[in-house]
Amino acid sequence: MASKRALITGISGQDGSYLAELLLSKGYEVNGTIRRSSSFNTSRIDHLFDKIKRHYSDLTDSSSLNRLIEKIQPNEIYNLGAQSHVKISFDVPEYTAETDAVGTLRILDAIRETGIRTKFYQASTSEMFGGMPGTAPQNENTPFHPRSPYGAAKLYAHWITVNYRESYGLFACSGILFNHESPRRGENFVTRKITKSAARFVNNLQDKLLLGNLDAKRDWGYAPDYVEAMWLMLQANKPDDYVISTGETHTVREFCEKAFTEAGVKLGWKGKGIEEKGYDTKTNKIVVEVNPGYFRPAEVEYLLGDPSKAGKMLGWEPKIRFAELVKIMVAADIDELKK
Ligand code: NAP
Ligand code: GDD
Repeated sequence: MASKRALITGISGQDGSYLAELLLSKGYEVNGTIRRSSSFNTSRIDHLFDKIKRHYSDLTDSSSLNRLIEKIQPNEIYNLGAQSHVKISFDVPEYTAETDAVGTLRILDAIRETGIRTKFYQASTSEMFGGMPGTAPQNENTPFHPRSPYGAAKLYAHWITVNYRESYGLFACSGILFNHESPRRGENFVTRKITKSAARFVNNLQDKLLLGNLDAKRDWGYAPDYVEAMWLMLQANKPDDYVISTGETHTVREFCEKAFTEAGVKLGWKGKGIEEKGYDTKTNKIVVEVNPGYFRPAEVEYLLGDPSKAGKMLGWEPKIRFAELVKIMVAADIDELKK
């Protein structure tokens, strides 16, 4: 008999898959929502097939959410489902709001309506801060200034979570997580795009890597560490909001350099702005070019989180930092090519 029942929206995503593994290891019954798709979209959780319960649902569909919550009666709900790509949110702003903002409200209201006693975790994001000048390091008291439809939708989700906690006494937490990555990261996020390209480049499968803003700085952590923080928030005595980050920041350019170094290629740089190029210092071959097509209408330039509250209140700290993270991701992408 499982000790607790959990419901994870977005279980097929990067974080959903790691959280499912963590909760299974703690003896939970793990339920997760998946979306109908014309091709298979469960590769990250296929290895858990007989251990978890999968349910078709969508954050845009209230009745499916109500039904599931009523049926499962979860002790803990982790709302990880989202249209999570910042640049794509400029192309599908309304869908992003429906899923990321109103979707969160749908779950909170289903909890209120059914009266089920469950704890709730909201996957909030450092994108809500917008990386405005003079605000780093960002902590729980830093003013919000979202710079994308994604950030704005997530900010609504954050405040409605806080509001339901204050209005109805729900045990609801908003985890303000900075970027976190892994070999399971979606391939159109910059870290995975780079590590996959570095692996392909040294295997003569790819010539060039086209990137957008090389100057953007991110506080990159390791996804398995971050799902542990989600769980810890719901085990605390009282619900609260926490910043989760490493406290270290690096440019996209640095991530590139480190990834190619891990793959055995030392990069040099020449040119400025959209003319900047990264080259293999051994062969002089151009490896990285800037393509303005990857620029965003508004950019978040500088994220650096201060996770000291989580350290103090939850005893959480990151185990894997930048250098090791890049190493893990490049090694996994090189291994993947060998298969
Ligand atoms: P991800 O890999 O993109 O996974 C998102 C999950 O949401 C997938 O399972 C996806 O299903 C599902 N989903 C998308 N649209 C949905 C909808 N309309 N209804 C129900 N489910 C839907 O994202 P992640 O990196 O694991 O991130 C998990 C959560 O944390 C997201 O809410 C994200 O916005 C937030 N977050 C992430 C980071 C980060 O750096 N990774 C940082 C801060 C906050 P499919 O697999 O079918 O697409
Ligand atoms: N995706 C992408 N592709 N980003 C690029 C590229 C490229 O080719 N070239 C440069 N970048 C820059 C982006 O402009 C951005 O400044 C930075 O690299 C990181 O981009 P992403 O990896 O797409 O992540 P993100 O920071 O926009 O959003 C991620 O982190 C958020 C937390 O801060 C996502 O996981 C969000 O869901 C999450 O909330």
